Amino acid sequence: MPPMSVKRSPQPMKPGEKMMFIVAGAFVVLAFLGFIAMLFIQSKDDKPMFEMKTHFQLSETGQRGSEGFRLNGCTTCHRALRNGTNMGRTAELDGIGSRRTETWLEAFLGDPEKYYRAATVDHGPTPKRADYVAELDVATRHDIAVFLSELKSDQGSSTAAAPPEGRSDFIDSMVKTWAPASWKEKYTDIRDKPVQDGYATAQPAEKE
Ligand code: HEC
Repeated sequence: MPPMSVKRSPQPMKPGEKMMFIVAGAFVVLAFLGFIAMLFIQSKDDKPMFEMKTHFQLSETGQRGSEGFRLNGCTTCHRALRNGTNMGRTAELDGIGSRRTETWLEAFLGDPEKYYRAATVDHGPTPKRADYVAELDVATRHDIAVFLSELKSDQGSSTAAAPPEGRSDFIDSMVKTWAPASWKEKYTDIRDKPVQDGYATAQPAEKE
């Protein structure tokens, strides 16, 4: 006698399982609808979705520096002209010319540990990963410093030294509530600092 084939009856889904599929399905549908809505809004709006708040106008030296920047491997760790890696805030050099002067940049490239506000991770004497930067010849470092100083950011952008224009009641109340009195005596509110050349003048001093 041939063996009897055992046919299993399909098990009905448990209510919990059904719920799970419905919720997961709803997420997929919502994401899809959201995406369509975004495309639609984008096509109706003539403003760009993300406003560019950095700009540059390269001089001849700046052009040379830009080349030096690429040829000397800076883009392995940094980003400039919207090219390069995106590791984090320090790596972003677009707009740096509004925070640092050309003099500072050139000094930093040649002797990073002397000028950087904190202990350096990669720039500095051997054996650090960017130790070679200080060994580049003076002319190359100068060109690169000029290039970087020409990468500007608008006031209020995340890479600018100056905060957005205008006062915000919210920020005022946060400062009032959370900043200790000792800070208020010791530091000037960045919003009260003079803005020169459209930007705050915060310049890091040489370290002791
Ligand atoms: C191995 C990764 C690495 C490479 C390569 C590298 N950098 Fe850096 N760079 C850093 C890090 C990390 C910092 C933050 C300071 C530190 O910790 O060393 C920094 C900081 C800087 C700063 C100061 C930014 C600020 O906060 O004001 C400048 C300017 C700079 N780098 C320029 C360059 C240039 C120009 C080159 C190429 C010649 C280069 N870097 C190559 C990792 C790197």
